[in-house]
Parts: sequence; structure tokens; C-alpha cells
Amino acid sequence: MGSPSQHHPLKLGVLISGRGSNLIAIASSIRKGSLPGVQIAVVISNTASACGLAVCRELGLPSEVFVSKGRPRAEHDADVADCLRQHRVDLVVLAGYMRLLSPEFIAAFPNRIVNIHPSLLPAFPGLDAQQQAFDYGVKLAGCTVHFVDEHLDHGAVILQRAIPVLDTDVAESLASRILKEEHIAYPAAIARIASGEYELRGRRYVRRTS
Ligand code: GRF
Repeated sequence: MGSPSQHHPLKLGVLISGRGSNLIAIASSIRKGSLPGVQIAVVISNTASACGLAVCRELGLPSEVFVSKGRPRAEHDADVADCLRQHRVDLVVLAGYMRLLSPEFIAAFPNRIVNIHPSLLPAFPGLDAQQQAFDYGVKLAGCTVHFVDEHLDHGAVILQRAIPVLDTDVAESLASRILKEEHIAYPAAIARIASGEYELRGRRYVRRTS
């Protein structure tokens, strides 16, 4: 199995659990023509009530629901992986997917799963990253797009966007300004992967020189 960038077109499988604003940002970039050769092959939600499913209906994106609640992780993930394979997905895009992935799932898509996290990793992994950053009193906050490995919010960094924390901020205003950066960062990171001009050297995702 080659790197995602060796596939044309690059077919995305977007995994969601909720709002779906990053899904909208990616879909809008595709529609505007700023992600040439990139398609959303399927959107998968692990809850039937995810608002992102309504987004799929509005945008005409194929969607599937595999309810994860109450199911063993490996069993649920196997169903999701089968669905991704059926849709010939090259790159799995986690967009607010609030479910830890099984080691088997991660191993099935090596360097082909990306995530967006609302902090400048490695600071503030886990839940409520924006609140964590605000409470810590950092002066720079932001978001990170990274490959997914077996550790939480840990894989190689593809792209980060930073913003200043303002004296007038509350946690909510900071989170909403970070979200605006996320909507720029995620399509930009996918464009980089699709371009094939980058390679992974250990943890470092760098421009290909040869
Ligand atoms: C985003 O803040 C993302 O960084 C985090 O989950 C949130 C998802 O938001 N992983 P949305 O569903 O894309 O609007």
C-alpha cells in the first residue's frame, strides 16, 4: 500500500461525531477547486445524531452511520474499516471523531489517518484543549493537523497555525478563533498530502528535496 499522495484522485473517508464544521471546510475547499484531485468518498459517523450528517444531506455527500455506543471497540472499528475499503478510501480524515481508534484500525491504515487538534501539540492533548490552553495562560494558541499513531494526539505534525491569546479573550472566544484557523489548516494540510511533495522522515513531515 503506497502513501496517500500516490493515489489519484485522493479519496477521503471523513469520520465525524458531531457538528461537522471541519467537514464543511474541506467540502467547500473541494467545491471551490482549491483541492484538485481530492474527493470525499464517504462520511462515517459513530452517532446517529451527529449534526454533520445533516451537512452531508445538504451537500449531497454519501454518509454511513456505525453506532459505536455499547459495542466492543475492535468490532466497531472493523465495520468502519470495511466501509472505508469498500469506498476505496486513500486517506482517513478524523474531523471531530470522538472515539479512540483500536490499534488494529491504526495498523490497517499506516500513515493514512490524519486528525486535527485544537492546540499547538504537544501542548494540551486530550479533551478541552482550548480551555486547557486558556487556563494555563499561554500567549500563543492554535491548532495542529497530524498523522495518527497509536498514542493520543501524538503522530507526526503536518501543519500548525498559531494565533495570539488576547487579554480580552475568554475560553469560548479563544476556541472560536482557533476553529477559524482549523478551517484553513485542514484543507491546507490535505492539499499538501495530495500534492505528494512531502515525505515523512521519522516524526518530521518535510518537503521532498529530490
Ligand atoms: C474541532 O475543534 C477539532 O479540532 C476537534 O473536534 C472539533 C470538531 O469540530 N478534534 P467540528 O465537528 O469539525 O465542527
